[in-house]
Amino acid sequence: MIMNNNPIGIFDSGVGGLTVLKEIQKKLPNENIIYLGDTKNFPYGNKNKEDIIKFAIDNMNLLIKKDVKLVIIACGTATSQAIDELRRIFQIPIIGIIEPTIEYVKKQGYDEIGVIATEGTIRSGAWESKLKEMNPRIKVINKACPMLATIAEKGKAQSAEGRAVIKEYMEPFKKNHVNKIILGCTHYPIYEEIIIEELQYDVELINTGVTVAEYLDMYLNRNNLKNTENVKKEEIYLTKPENEFKNIAQNILGEIIDIKAI
Ligand code: DGL
Repeated sequence: MIMNNNPIGIFDSGVGGLTVLKEIQKKLPNENIIYLGDTKNFPYGNKNKEDIIKFAIDNMNLLIKKDVKLVIIACGTATSQAIDELRRIFQIPIIGIIEPTIEYVKKQGYDEIGVIATEGTIRSGAWESKLKEMNPRIKVINKACPMLATIAEKGKAQSAEGRAVIKEYMEPFKKNHVNKIILGCTHYPIYEEIIIEELQYDVELINTGVTVAEYLDMYLNRNNLKNTENVKKEEIYLTKPENEFKNIAQNILGEIIDIKAI
């Protein structure tokens, strides 16, 4: 039985999903949240589909044991390769980062868009095929950014290395003045300012955390699943302890949340 006062489960391979957690906190400040970072298996971006599905199933089971009422896959790599399989296996509602973002792009009526994401996500073609399903005439410019999640996970996004890879990855967008880019990996909002500095023109960086929070709000309302109690709880679990995690979490969320091992 799904109870509306139960927590929302969120998972990612590491710190990236905290950018989604942050937007959910803003939009739905009364929801209890359990976050799971699968640091033991980080990074997901360079692994094959079978591995991603296996990790995602394990994450689902861990969250379901904590009585979550629904699960947010706050990871582009897992959304692009595992969401269909997870929905086949689990009864619980599952929201990924792609569908809510496609809804947003549809509402805006965009006909050209850039997508940056991990190698695995770009290889899956999931963003491009969903965007084209929505609008067959849309022009999609894809760019895999293999280094970004790993650099961010080390807390080095602002370093010279971080800036150098952003410069390289932004080339195809800069050349063509692409001014709407989906941040198709949840680690990427960490680079928002650096990307804007590099492009030097007016650009909309679409943060999937924002579209997910919007969609989740609607979903909870429609299904009468909003938390009605006034006690708010947030927990972060990691499958392997990581030194940098706490600092990065604090930078993203602006608050200290206790981090536990699972
Ligand atoms: N944050 C993830 C994503 O959205 C995964 C990055 C990784 O583990 O490579 O794709």
